[in-house]
Amino acid sequence: MIPVGGDDPYEVIIGRGILASSVAEQLGSRVAKVLIVHPATLGARASALREELSGSYEVLLAEVPDAEEAKRVEVAAFCWQIMGQTDFTRTDAVVGLGGGATTDLAGFVAATWLRGVRLVQCPSSVNGIVDAAIGGKTGINTNEGKNLVGSFYSPVAVVVDLDLLDDLPHNEVLAGFAEIVKCGFIGAPEILEIIERDVETATDTRSAEFRRVVELSIALKARVVGEDFRESGLREILNYGHTLGHAIEHAERYRWRHGAAISVGMVFAAELARIAGSLPDVVVDRHRSILTSLTLPIDYPLGRWKTLLATMQRDKKARAGMMRFIVLDEAGKPSVLAGPDEALLFAAYQEVGV
Ligand code: GLY
Repeated sequence: MIPVGGDDPYEVIIGRGILASSVAEQLGSRVAKVLIVHPATLGARASALREELSGSYEVLLAEVPDAEEAKRVEVAAFCWQIMGQTDFTRTDAVVGLGGGATTDLAGFVAATWLRGVRLVQCPSSVNGIVDAAIGGKTGINTNEGKNLVGSFYSPVAVVVDLDLLDDLPHNEVLAGFAEIVKCGFIGAPEILEIIERDVETATDTRSAEFRRVVELSIALKARVVGEDFRESGLREILNYGHTLGHAIEHAERYRWRHGAAISVGMVFAAELARIAGSLPDVVVDRHRSILTSLTLPIDYPLGRWKTLLATMQRDKKARAGMMRFIVLDEAGKPSVLAGPDEALLFAAYQEVGV
């Protein structure tokens, strides 16, 4: 169990075969109805969970589209409709069962229904487990951009049942590792050592090493969001690799996996720190070798620079018109580089551009 601090503290419960028992324990006895929000790919898991909970609760299922397609206002409205038609009250609860997009949507639905109902998040992807489901960011996209509508809303618990990962294709596990590597570089160096020691074992979801890197990543995120829930400072370090990464996702019309995009973004950020500051070549090389060992991309077409720059300038994290990048002063020591000039950014991009 890993505690997440802040105004509404809760726990991340990690194990195997714990889904139904832990969800029931977290729902408690005051809840009458439970809405399980899940994608079609987890239909069998959602039905099994419904069976197991149905002795104690009236359980409803909301099957939502996969991935980013879930994060649309029409899909949120579909969930609200089920809740409205079943007289869902403030003492009822939402369970988010799925990857990061599903838990973002489920969190948003829970946060907005009657100004907030109980929420238990059950992430089923590596990215969801180590990042999206932890820290209370909930939201949906609009035509103008990602995550433009949402709220900070804490679940009562995050239940990580590692059994859910056993169904994942290996390349999805590898893509999820980008967030794990990010945690390694910004403050949990043991992660990097475990991956370097044996990448096959580290990425085997049944291994002790996999569980260890997951726990280290969750602990890092829990510490950061416990100190800065609303991202007024420290939490920004979790965006390492994300400024360019988001621009790549946008340029690729979200056909690239998030992990692939932030993989390139982290190499870019490392090059930026090398050129702007003093990050040694060896740390930049370490980014490339670890990410390559995970078969994640480390370069992107040079000719796309203008498009990427325009998107980064619009990035919601730009403050007072200034672009902000998380860079490393050294491995494990992130800092903010605000308002770097375009020549510097382009110099760094030339190192990842092909
Ligand atoms: N995914 C970054 C954060 O939760 O702040």
